[in-house]
Amino acid sequence: MEDQAVEYSLRPRYLNEYIGQSQVKDNLKVFIEAAKLRKEALDHVLLYGPPGLGKTTLSNIIANELGVSLRTTSGPAIERPGDLAALLTNLQENDVLFIDEIHRLNRSVEEVLYPAMEDFCLDIMIGKGPSARSVRLDLPPFTLIGATTRAGLLSAPLRDRFGVVSRLEYYGTDELAFIISRSAEILDVRMVGEAAHEIALRSRGTPRIANRLLKRVRDFAQVRGDGIITSELAELALSLIAVDPLGLDRIDHKLLQAMISHYRGGPVGLDTLAATIGEESQTIEDVYEPYLMQIGFLQRTPRGRVATPLAYRHLGLPVPE
Ligand code: ADE
Repeated sequence: MEDQAVEYSLRPRYLNEYIGQSQVKDNLKVFIEAAKLRKEALDHVLLYGPPGLGKTTLSNIIANELGVSLRTTSGPAIERPGDLAALLTNLQENDVLFIDEIHRLNRSVEEVLYPAMEDFCLDIMIGKGPSARSVRLDLPPFTLIGATTRAGLLSAPLRDRFGVVSRLEYYGTDELAFIISRSAEILDVRMVGEAAHEIALRSRGTPRIANRLLKRVRDFAQVRGDGIITSELAELALSLIAVDPLGLDRIDHKLLQAMISHYRGGPVGLDTLAATIGEESQTIEDVYEPYLMQIGFLQRTPRGRVATPLAYRHLGLPVPE
């Protein structure tokens, strides 16, 4: 199977296969069961947190558990109110509409979304100028699941219309090891000893990264070894693809190095830093920074980003006075 197809099959389809995020999961279980008992649409759900923690997976699971269809789209893909209207009028009763990157919806689309979420209706303008009039269209009840890495960028009126707001957290090492073992089984690759744990330690708390590392380690096991993933092979493979013992990759290193060697450890502004290493500010902010902050290597201050003594030590550099 191609990577993409495998990726899909690694995703759990029901809550009982979904590892971790136990608080979010346990609460969702109750809300889903209650909605099913009442034969109603589940209240709208906002999922937020760093990328790769399972927001899309969880939406698929919610639709499966509810026994309804899921329509998937994203904030930037819905350009005009008419695009949203087309999606909403094609839903069946109690279906789930998943909008990824919901913080990127434009204002005019958001305004159509409010009455749709609140009263299951659409107010559409017909015609232009003095003869323009508004027509109200009823929609089937539905569940909107919004996902974002940046809950802070959501407008207050939009955020307030979600009945369930869940924050996904970084996974613990044991949970990741569990996910890796499950994936290895699905991929039909043998893993022995502490190999799953070795990979988990370097997965930055993120299942998407864990599964990606597992696939690369499997490549080394098949080409350089006998197909079996041992701890030693996992460690060797991960060092060859430049993932360090804490799971930091080349870009993390470049980022921290630039802060320390060009800006004396900071404070340095995000855009300056991004330009220095040739990455997008948004990628740094959404993908790299959250984990570096989580492990205490980087701080956000009002004057910019600062590398901490822990970062210096990890890079083997002397900590300044
Ligand atoms: N694969 C990716 N994320 C997962 C999760 N949370 N549980 C089980 N398998 C996964």
